[in-house]
Amino acid sequence: MDQIVRLADAKQVPPCTVVIFGASGDLAMRKLIPALYSLDACGERMLADETMIVGCARRPMAVEQFRQHARDAIGRFSSAPIQQPCWERFAARLDYLAGIEDLESFARLKARLEQIESASALPPNRIFYLAIPPDAILDWVERLHGAGLIAPPQGPGFSRVVVEKPIGVDLRSAMAINAGLHRYLDESQIFRIDHYLGKETVRNFMVLRFGNSIFEQVWNNHHIDHVQITVAEQEGVGTRAGYYDHAGALRDMVQNHIFQLLSLIAMEPPVSLAADDVREAKLNVLRAIKPLTPDEARTQVVRAQYAAGQVDGHPLPGYLQEPGVAPHSATETYVALKVFVNNWRWSGVPFYLRTGKALARRASSVAIHFKHLPAILFAEHHPLPANILTLRIQPDEGFSLSVMGKRPGLDLAIGPVDMDLQYRREFDARSPEAYEMLLYEVMVGDQTLFVQAEMVERSWRFIQSILDVWQRDGRTGMLSYPAGSWGPPEATGMLAAHRCGWLEP
Ligand code: BG6
Repeated sequence: MDQIVRLADAKQVPPCTVVIFGASGDLAMRKLIPALYSLDACGERMLADETMIVGCARRPMAVEQFRQHARDAIGRFSSAPIQQPCWERFAARLDYLAGIEDLESFARLKARLEQIESASALPPNRIFYLAIPPDAILDWVERLHGAGLIAPPQGPGFSRVVVEKPIGVDLRSAMAINAGLHRYLDESQIFRIDHYLGKETVRNFMVLRFGNSIFEQVWNNHHIDHVQITVAEQEGVGTRAGYYDHAGALRDMVQNHIFQLLSLIAMEPPVSLAADDVREAKLNVLRAIKPLTPDEARTQVVRAQYAAGQVDGHPLPGYLQEPGVAPHSATETYVALKVFVNNWRWSGVPFYLRTGKALARRASSVAIHFKHLPAILFAEHHPLPANILTLRIQPDEGFSLSVMGKRPGLDLAIGPVDMDLQYRREFDARSPEAYEMLLYEVMVGDQTLFVQAEMVERSWRFIQSILDVWQRDGRTGMLSYPAGSWGPPEATGMLAAHRCGWLEP
């Protein structure tokens, strides 16, 4: 009997026009165009025949030139190889408009979209992807509205606007952006991207929790001692200092990606798989996290900058010596913090979150540490390590459960052994890239994997309680760690109460 339960076949993707603002930029070329190609490529064929992609950017360029750039980008970044017939079909979908900036030029865009739609007798099904700097988002939405490009949510056709992070730099600016978006768009038309939600392994979190009878029984404060979430990166700030030195690890990674992981791990079972139900269940987690008091912000949070060191055998300068970083910058490249979800299920269970750049390895995971056994029988003389369920997000995708086992031999020696599932070994299917997944969901109009306004604001409310203290403290409290290490030792000290350190991948 086939034991695979296919809950949803890949949905029918309606024909639409995808307009990418910032089409010659990094995001468009590295992620969006390659992802759209992969969706269209042989084997997938997810794009409807009439679907068109209109690139818009400042730079004057002939359509042919834009297609050539797209082809190069696909060759470098797409997970699907270039095959001539697929490429030809995809290239014919690509169009380019230069200088779409002021309201008058938006009228040109409108005329082009209407031309495309009437040529295929399509309703105005439009997706506007704002791959542009965050401070331009509201102007662009206003112009889209001013040019009459945004249809009302009840149709005909649909208008969806895709917004990238960061949504704001603090609580106040995030609220202003949401309010600005809501002036012209219904929440059902706004798709706020958090690319971690498109990762195959992250999508598996809910299946693992709610599709297995063994985990949910023990998924609470009776059985779980604490949870560790790690998103470790090897790269330093690279060429992104202009952005990063104003952001830092807390804004760049915790406010969005790590809080999304946390909410999936801690959420109650949603009443259904409908987008609103899933998102409401995740939101309730953030509603249960209290902002920190200034005292807690100083004792429960560790921040640090990398000093010169070696990452994977390559020398890396210290953060303060990186080009573009202010000489006395108080921007953290590493943060570790302890968070409590104050609800019935999680009361008293700390969630330890950490992320950093220039660390020893690229590895992201969630480790659920179960409680220790009572000190009797095997654990009488020496405490046994606790069971740990590790969900590996990347790069070695999979999950493992460490259990105690007897080592073979005449003696009685007990130690942890791993029950391990590796995606690479288990499944021969290719995992879609995060952006493929997310673009597909935008096209079918499912908001489950996108972040709603209140979620953004709730997470900023918490982050703000730390930012306010750091603002007052300046560099006081900023620690240092050598590039290529696992961060400052103070971050390990946080875990002292649990008889363990951070789980090193
Ligand atoms: C981005 C951050 O959102 O996520 C980057 O701005 C970070 O600083 C990146 O490097 C990490 O994404 P991934 O998918 O490589 O883990």
